[in-house]
Amino acid sequence: MTQSMIRPVTPADYREYARRRLPGFLFHYIDGAANEERTADRNQSDFGRWQLRQRVMRDVSGVSTAARLAGEDVALPLALAPVGLTGMFARRGEASAGRAAARVGVPMGLSTVSICSIREVQAAGPAVWFQLYMLRDRDLVLQLLEQAWESGVRTLLFTVDLAMEGVRHRDIRSGMVGSTLRARLGRAWQIVSHPRWVWDVGLRGRPHTFGNLGFFDTASNDLNAYKSFIAGQFDRAVTWEDIGWLREHWQGRLYIKGVLCEEDARAAAERGADGVVVSNHGGRQLDEVSSTIGKLPEVVAAVGDQLEVLLDGGVRSGLDIVRAVALGARGVLIGRPFVYALAARGEAGVHDLLATLQHEMTVAMALMGVTQVNELNPDCLQYCGPERV
Ligand SMILES: Cc1cc2nc3c(=O)[nH]c(=O)nc-3n(C[C@H](O)[C@H](O)[C@H](O)COP(=O)(O)O)c2cc1C
Repeated sequence: MTQSMIRPVTPADYREYARRRLPGFLFHYIDGAANEERTADRNQSDFGRWQLRQRVMRDVSGVSTAARLAGEDVALPLALAPVGLTGMFARRGEASAGRAAARVGVPMGLSTVSICSIREVQAAGPAVWFQLYMLRDRDLVLQLLEQAWESGVRTLLFTVDLAMEGVRHRDIRSGMVGSTLRARLGRAWQIVSHPRWVWDVGLRGRPHTFGNLGFFDTASNDLNAYKSFIAGQFDRAVTWEDIGWLREHWQGRLYIKGVLCEEDARAAAERGADGVVVSNHGGRQLDEVSSTIGKLPEVVAAVGDQLEVLLDGGVRSGLDIVRAVALGARGVLIGRPFVYALAARGEAGVHDLLATLQHEMTVAMALMGVTQVNELNPDCLQYCGPERV
């Protein structure tokens, strides 16, 4: 952090604040990705392959970032991505982020493994998109769907890229996982050396159970149990056939999150999904796969006329949102950026970050000579990356 930083503004600034505020193992859990973390890096850097085209002398007095996502009006084409355990990074984290999302006018994705329950987040005011992992216990899945529907949720993100959890070396290095004495002492030390987090989140942020699953207590600080829960309950046997089952039990909109190629996008369309999220889980699953922005044009060409295509991974500015939308995404989701802001400054941090992204987007559109989000198209960009094969 430079000495002159009085207040964080960009995701990179908030990341630096979050690094200081959080016990190390929690920061690295958010910040880290799979294996050598190359895909996570590429998610961000590949946006640079597309330059924006400046256009002048077009009346841009009515510039607006307003858009429609999942059938609802939004202030800008963005939603908060579902991020598990958000309530461990800030006090009642999902509800605080939800309040900020509601104030700005964007939807909020809520993870199956969130700390706050669907009801608690709905009460904070945002349009909630519930994110489902397929659990082996289908009765539990049905209960989750029922809870979501009864709380007023109408959009389901079904995440399909977690057949096994990715290999996260950082979680071992940081002591996030491991039950040896050394790992436990390391975690304990990281916790006691962050008294502010202990007071604000560790004590006042309780209960640290999974709000939607009820039975699971993360308060032991031993997140090994969380990892074994994922390994034990997440169903690896899921196939496209299960979408039929899901469709029978979910009357609302259904988005398949974690699609990264045209074949899978077509399969989602054939099975009656309403949309896909082009995602590689923020580079946390299979390292060395393509960036999401790199795959967006392929997916849009395959299913863009049938499905709502969203993208997440590496979106770090309003300019990135402009690029994704110009390449055919209806909107984007952001994961780490809002969690850093939440860990740094709570609801105010998320609110201000969203306002910054919206401002950046507004200015970019005006200077590109575009006033409406649906006017953004590939001609607004210039490809300057490596030659495409
Ligand atoms: C700490 C963390 C936890 C996550 N937990 C979930 C989750 O529970 N469910 C899910 O579908 N995606 C989860 N994701 C992935 C995000 O929804 C999203 O795809 C990803 O963060 C987008 O990349 P970005 O962080 O570069 O914006 C998680 C991501 C992070 C960083």
